Parts: sequence; C-alpha cells; structure tokens
Amino acid sequence: MFPAMTIRNIIVAPDPRLKVISKPVDAVTDEMRALMDDMLETMYDAPGIGLAAVQIGVPLRIIVMDLAREDEEPQPLYLVNPEIIEASGDLVPYDEGCLSVPDFYETVERPGHVTLRYLDYQGEIREMKADEMLATCVQHEMDHLEGILFVDHLTRLRRSMILRKLTKQKRLEESA
Ligand code: NI
Repeated sequence: MFPAMTIRNIIVAPDPRLKVISKPVDAVTDEMRALMDDMLETMYDAPGIGLAAVQIGVPLRIIVMDLAREDEEPQPLYLVNPEIIEASGDLVPYDEGCLSVPDFYETVERPGHVTLRYLDYQGEIREMKADEMLATCVQHEMDHLEGILFVDHLTRLRRSMILRKLTKQKRLEESA
C-alpha cells in the first residue's frame, strides 16, 4: 500500500534542478501512479493548471494538468512520456505563468494546434489533439521536460529581470 497523497515542494527558478532533462518512464507502475497523485495534489494546492515532475525535483517525463474551470468537475490529465507528433504552423500568443516562476505572466507564441501521443494513468497509449489553452499548456509543460521555462522564450533582458527579482525574493524568504 502507498501512503496518502503528499503535497510536495515546488522548485522556484532560478534553480539548476529545473534545467535537468527528464528521463522517460520505463513502466507506469503503482509507484509512478503514487507520484502522479502527489503531483496532482501539489498542483491543485498551489493552485495551478499544470505541473511537470521535474518541478518537484523528480526528473521523469510525467506531466499532470487540469484545465477545468472552477464551476466544473475536475478533469485531471496524466501525460507520461508525451511526444508531439504533429504541430500546426500557426503561432498563437497566450499569456503564460508557471508555478516555478511565481507571480510573472508573459505572452509566449506557440503552435496553435498539436497532436500528442502519451501514456495515460493506466499506462495505455493515447493520442490527443489539443488547441487553444490546452495546446499552450501541453507545450509549456513539455518544455519543462527539456529543462526549458517559459521565460526562456522571452528576450534576454526580460528573462534576466524576472530571474533577478525571483532571486531577490528567495533571499528575502531565506533571511525572514
Ligand atoms: Ni511551468
């Protein structure tokens, strides 16, 4: 038996652990499902709409998401070893935020439609077409698996300004 879900600490940038390239999952075992349960709980608690395992310091190719609105039933999505098998040529701007880059929102352009293949919570192979916010969210989370944050899509000036502020904030919290 596995213990009840645990809320894990979310790593905040800048942190070298967020730059690690995540490794594929060999098999979707009970241990992996327990990790996914923790990730979902951690994401809901934050609160956020997407979380990659590397953000809690586990560099495995696992993502959880839930884009349901507050008045809707939860719609958890578990993506293990996701791959984009098709992406549209059009670029769509969206305001993005990230639990590892708290309190900053910036516009990033990404393909508006993607098709992905992944393993679900049961380890079954799935394909999904995503557009609008789901497409953006999937691509944002998949960037995490490559050690990329949304701020890496911004100008160097904007990125260093944000990371500097986050560093300052961390120092304040450490000395508090
Ligand atoms: Ni993120």
